[in-house]
Amino acid sequence: MAAGGCLLLLLLPSLVTASHSPPGCKIRITSKGLDLVKQEGLRFVEQELQNITVSDLHGNEGQFQYNISQVKVTDLQLAFSDLNFQPQQHLVFNISNASISLRFRRQLLYWFFYDIGSINASADGVHIYTVLQLAKDEAGRLKISNMTCNASIARMHAGFSGTLRKVYEFLSTFIVTGMRFLLSQQICPSLEHASLVLLNSLLDTVPVRNYVDEHIGIDYSLLRDPSITTDTLELDFKGMFFPRVREDQELENHAVEPVIKETERMVYVAFSEYFFDSAMHSYFQAGVLTIELQGEKVPKDLEVLLRATFFGTIFMLSPSVDAPLRLVLQVSAPPRCTIKPSGTSVSVSAFLNISLVPPDRPPVQLSSMAMETKLSAKVFLQGKALRVQLDLRRFRIYSKQSALESLALFSLQAPLKTLLQLTIMPIINERTKKGVQIPLPEGMDFTREVVTNHAGFLTVGADLHFSKGLREVIEKYRPVPTAAAYSSSQSAEPSLDPSSL
Ligand SMILES: *[C@@H]1O[C@H](CO)[C@@H](O)[C@H](O)[C@H]1NC(C)=O
Ligand SMILES: *[C@@H]1O[C@H](CO)[C@@H](O)[C@H](O)[C@H]1NC(C)=O
Ligand SMILES: *[C@@H]1O[C@H](CO)[C@@H](O)[C@H](O)[C@H]1NC(C)=O
Ligand SMILES: *[C@@H]1O[C@H](CO)[C@@H](O)[C@H](O)[C@H]1NC(C)=O
Ligand SMILES: *[C@@H]1O[C@H](CO)[C@@H](O)[C@H](O)[C@H]1NC(C)=O
Ligand SMILES: *[C@@H]1O[C@H](CO)[C@@H](O)[C@H](O)[C@H]1NC(C)=O
Ligand SMILES: *[C@@H]1O[C@H](CO)[C@@H](O)[C@H](O)[C@H]1NC(C)=O
Ligand SMILES: *[C@@H]1O[C@H](CO)[C@@H](O)[C@H](O)[C@H]1NC(C)=O
Repeated sequence: MAAGGCLLLLLLPSLVTASHSPPGCKIRITSKGLDLVKQEGLRFVEQELQNITVSDLHGNEGQFQYNISQVKVTDLQLAFSDLNFQPQQHLVFNISNASISLRFRRQLLYWFFYDIGSINASADGVHIYTVLQLAKDEAGRLKISNMTCNASIARMHAGFSGTLRKVYEFLSTFIVTGMRFLLSQQICPSLEHASLVLLNSLLDTVPVRNYVDEHIGIDYSLLRDPSITTDTLELDFKGMFFPRVREDQELENHAVEPVIKETERMVYVAFSEYFFDSAMHSYFQAGVLTIELQGEKVPKDLEVLLRATFFGTIFMLSPSVDAPLRLVLQVSAPPRCTIKPSGTSVSVSAFLNISLVPPDRPPVQLSSMAMETKLSAKVFLQGKALRVQLDLRRFRIYSKQSALESLALFSLQAPLKTLLQLTIMPIINERTKKGVQIPLPEGMDFTREVVTNHAGFLTVGADLHFSKGLREVIEKYRPVPTAAAYSSSQSAEPSLDPSSL
């Protein structure tokens, strides 16, 4: 026990740093965003309550026998409802003074009067108070982890009419009390199912760890439970890319933590330098940051210039004079991203190797130059994908062999820059064209997004838009076995004796 305690103390510093590791990607949902979620959520709750099944009610009291069956919700009025953040981890959904209209089938026997027909009834002053707890699950996904609910019905009316009216008035309180109990008993289970099963299946559509292309993947697992204040909900995602050749690789995050201060828009997503660095690190490790141009692919005027520059060397290899040229551009270290309020840039170091490739003979390297380039990066959202468009800004080549050769390379500077701009940049931009999905559920999109740069991170502020209703997405992923279990437990509800109330 004591030894365990010591071990724990030793481990503590590393545990502390692990739990406080900064997110590479952060999402903030504001009260405005929650308002939109509420509108969509209410529609969903309405549909769920509309389908409440109330079990049959039958029994007898003295000479009075009754059967109430086929209870159907015909209308719902949820005029007063609120969806609020509740620190530290909860959402509160409060419906007050709602009304529910019902129709049911009656079979009554009073002495020897037998009566059968349908009755309209309404429940008024319906209060439903639910608290949803949000947490990260073992897979790092956001989930509704628990829910508490209470519901009550203040009044219930039933419209009895016909010849036995006097009798009904006397007995209706009796039936209505039973109905009221059954109904209020069904509200919470229905909402519990809606949240814990249906809404969670919607949250299952948020990507946690998936492949971006054939080379890299992205890890959007949550680092910790969401943090909720009275007007914001914040999610800290790892936001780390990994090479598919080494999936379990962890890149340490030494970048600054994004801080979102704004609350004007519905949602903000922030990405730190780490996010972009891990992408380039992964591409580098996947070995794809190499481009080779040979023969026809080398622009003619550049070839002429290269042959002139290396004329002496080529001449000495006389049998190979006419051999085609090959240019290999190989990034020599993981590129680094820098985000400043003035813009985003990427620094790349690379080798440019120029060789002759005589047919049927080993290639002969003419030169290996070092290249330092700075690219400007324009980050934007396209649909749900985050994309980066790169543009060549600064460029420098030098010889690793001698200062003299560096001088000779000076005349190559401009044509090589053109080569990069016209030939290589389009290849790179084509590769990143697909972009990477941001962690949002299916059916939910950003609109009117604005990208803002800060020191060490950038934010995308946007409004939310439901391109598909919650219901539509949920139906698509509806967990079939659980739904079946739920409806069977409902119909198995025992009948109830209202006198026990
Ligand atoms: C309500 O129940 C009916 C019949 O069981 C089903 O077809 C329908 O999809 C349900 N609607 C909702 C909103 O669950
Ligand atoms: C629920 O909403 C009603 C009406 O807005 C309000 O009076 C009541 O206090 C709220 N309940 C809770 C528990 O916040
Ligand atoms: C509740 O709603 C009914 C109508 O549905 C209305 O007459 C009543 O004034 C409302 N009560 C409160 C407290 O808002
Ligand atoms: C109520 O239903 C039961 C079973 O279906 C039946 O035996 C009984 O006669 C019914 N009572 C009345 C009053 O219709
Ligand atoms: C119940 O209400 C519907 C309309 O909502 C009406 O058509 C019907 O006649 C009513 N039935 C009774 C028995 O009052
Ligand atoms: C859910 O919340 C209730 C009430 O706060 C609590 O009693 C219960 O232990 C919680 N369940 C879980 C799994 O956290
Ligand atoms: C439900 O519980 C909340 C918090 O405990 C309480 O404020 C509210 O009055 C309750 N509402 C109903 C309808 O019982
Ligand atoms: C380029 O040349 C350097 C120096 O000779 C060498 O280390 C490197 O492996 C070469 N790269 C390629 C892709 O040929």
